[in-house]
Amino acid sequence: MQNKACVRAHTNIALIKYWGKRDETYFLPMNSSLSLTLDKLYTDTMVSFEEDLAGDVFYLNDELQGEKETQKISAFLDLFRKEKKTTAFARVESHNHVPTAAGLASSASAFAALAGAANRALQLHLDPQTLSTFARRGSGSATRSIYGGFVEWDMGTTSDDSFAIEVDDASWDIGMVIVAVNKKAKEVSSREGMKRTVETSPFYPAWTQAAKKDIVSIKEAIAKKDFIRLGEITEANGMKMHGTMLGAEPPFSYWEPDSIRAINIVKQLRKEGIPCYVTMDAGPNVKVLCRLSQAETIKTALLSCFSADKLIITGPGAGIRELTATE
Ligand code: PMV
Repeated sequence: MQNKACVRAHTNIALIKYWGKRDETYFLPMNSSLSLTLDKLYTDTMVSFEEDLAGDVFYLNDELQGEKETQKISAFLDLFRKEKKTTAFARVESHNHVPTAAGLASSASAFAALAGAANRALQLHLDPQTLSTFARRGSGSATRSIYGGFVEWDMGTTSDDSFAIEVDDASWDIGMVIVAVNKKAKEVSSREGMKRTVETSPFYPAWTQAAKKDIVSIKEAIAKKDFIRLGEITEANGMKMHGTMLGAEPPFSYWEPDSIRAINIVKQLRKEGIPCYVTMDAGPNVKVLCRLSQAETIKTALLSCFSADKLIITGPGAGIRELTATE
């Protein structure tokens, strides 16, 4: 039996954010979300289940990882072992392909790649939707990285129907310029940030209501290939999410001075007639949604404030795929 597989998964950026869990064990979200999978940022993960291993072994970018990191991987692989009714431990080798200095290591591509590789290695033959429910248990955003293009993660009603589906392959003139503001470890993890916001922010109920409307509107914009509307909804939704954090107790924010500098450049570009819109996640990096054909112009404007190694242009990415031995 072949018990080894290597899978590539691309990261994704949410245009309608997932922010808040209704179930912490199963990673069930408070609201549905929608993202764009990105071509340039991805993770390649090899998983090999071996009967003679005494425990799981995890290498990230060729470095053997410690107990804490390995424990997280083991708990995730347990879901697959249970499904296969096996107790075999695994050797996991992951490589994050993120341009240097970006500091954008992503749990989305990491858990989607690991889920895909474990599925193949154990020959579970899980269909993509079911696989996305497994990826979800590693990290919410990983649910969406199973697919390419625009992807919706439906909040669902149970663990079994809270999965992602592809909405549109994004094969139109769409791209992102990522402004890697800094790569310091964040002070408030997304997990902790969500929890604090759900529990203490009086703005939180307004967020879930708004997100519900935004997801309907953004799908209409995608169906019409209306880029301006898509951008407007994206920018407004991200701002609403960050607003909830200012209402939390104690309040927190992921923004840094450079985030605001990037946002101001984008606003100026818009005044000059270039449609481009910002979104930010649980960190200070700014992602600029744009026409891929205008990404170079946007990058040139951002170069007035940021060095070239902090600016990454990317188009839409594909869903997960198994890599051949030579890749
Ligand atoms: O699932 P996590 O821990 O990667 O949380 C993702 C949270 C946001 O990036 C802020 C929003 C999102 O939908 O990706």
